[in-house]
Amino acid sequence: MFIPVNEPLLGAEELANVTTAVKTGWISSEGKFVKQFEDEFAGYIGVKYGVAVCNGTAALHLALATLGIGKGDEVIVPAFTMIASVYAIIYCGATPVLVDADPETWCMDVSQIEKKITRKTKAIMPVHIYGHPVDMDPLLEIAKKHKLIIVEDAAEIHGGEYKGRKAGGLGEIGCFSFYANKIITTGEGGMLVTNDQDIYEKAKILRNMAFSEGKRYIHYEIGFNYRMTNLQAAVGLGQLHQVKKLLEIKIRNAHSYNEKLKHIPGITLPVQKPWAKNVYWMYSILIEKDFGLPAGQVQAKLKEMGVDTRALFVPMHQQPVLLKMGLFSREKYPVSEELSQKGFYLPSGTALTEEQIEVVCQSLAQIKKQH
Ligand SMILES: Cc1ncc(COP(=O)(O)O)c(C=O)c1O
Repeated sequence: MFIPVNEPLLGAEELANVTTAVKTGWISSEGKFVKQFEDEFAGYIGVKYGVAVCNGTAALHLALATLGIGKGDEVIVPAFTMIASVYAIIYCGATPVLVDADPETWCMDVSQIEKKITRKTKAIMPVHIYGHPVDMDPLLEIAKKHKLIIVEDAAEIHGGEYKGRKAGGLGEIGCFSFYANKIITTGEGGMLVTNDQDIYEKAKILRNMAFSEGKRYIHYEIGFNYRMTNLQAAVGLGQLHQVKKLLEIKIRNAHSYNEKLKHIPGITLPVQKPWAKNVYWMYSILIEKDFGLPAGQVQAKLKEMGVDTRALFVPMHQQPVLLKMGLFSREKYPVSEELSQKGFYLPSGTALTEEQIEVVCQSLAQIKKQH
């Protein structure tokens, strides 16, 4: 038996919608499912507008481009994130400025932001990492005080909440990914959500090659082809209609892992702050010194036992491509480095069974016993 890290749960509605799209021939971005998915997803997050795109990275890039962020501008972003957050800033010609992670939530340490603000800072990009929200109230206050825009990277937190409000709907723009391992998926896909009508209108134009409304082949700006297809939206709509169930499964599985792992010494489990609803996008653990074996070796042993895992992100200041560009040299982010060295995630897909969770936990207990 092999237990994969992720397996999506796709239902009858997804299949029926895709069949409709194929049968009617509406397979490009012009089909009716795209607008329906945008409206319903934006409503789910609690904001007015959604702009569906081809992936989460495109959503982030489109967000920054829509805001006019470019050369000479700085955007503050966590060191501990997936590189797409930083790519989006670089695609715009702007400069990423890093802050370290909070040791408990692993999200950006909000108390370290203010000292990174300069005259060039235009925006802050909080990343709700592995399904736990950033501590948003102090962040929103800093943004207000310094007149900065907040673009949330909400790729990993569909349905997660901060003080009862949905993550992704708390800043000026929220950006989601619908990649196959995300809480709801369209295969590949993403969405920008906002309450701001001007941002919405501009993002729609830039997404679609910056065609002019009046004279189609006259272009006043550099646009992108970041459109989502009707086929993707057909799947997304079906997924959205089962999001409650998908979240229940994620949270139930996380609680089950917590119960079964809490007695094993040397494992740090994910937290949920009192103000947070953690959706445990990927159930991630840290292997501490007293476990007796480094994280990488634990992962290798689990693999031999048929349990797939993935290491946590490598921080941005340790990325060869970014160092080669002259970014972050000699910068240190000790919490991010530690998370990267000690952490990995366990099988977390919505198709995971209770028996599989039991096997994963017993395998970890067995490895611990041998060391
Ligand atoms: C934090 C974060 N941001 C952005 C992305 C990019 O999303 P996508 O893979 O859909 O481009 C991901 C996804 O994998 C992510 O985890």
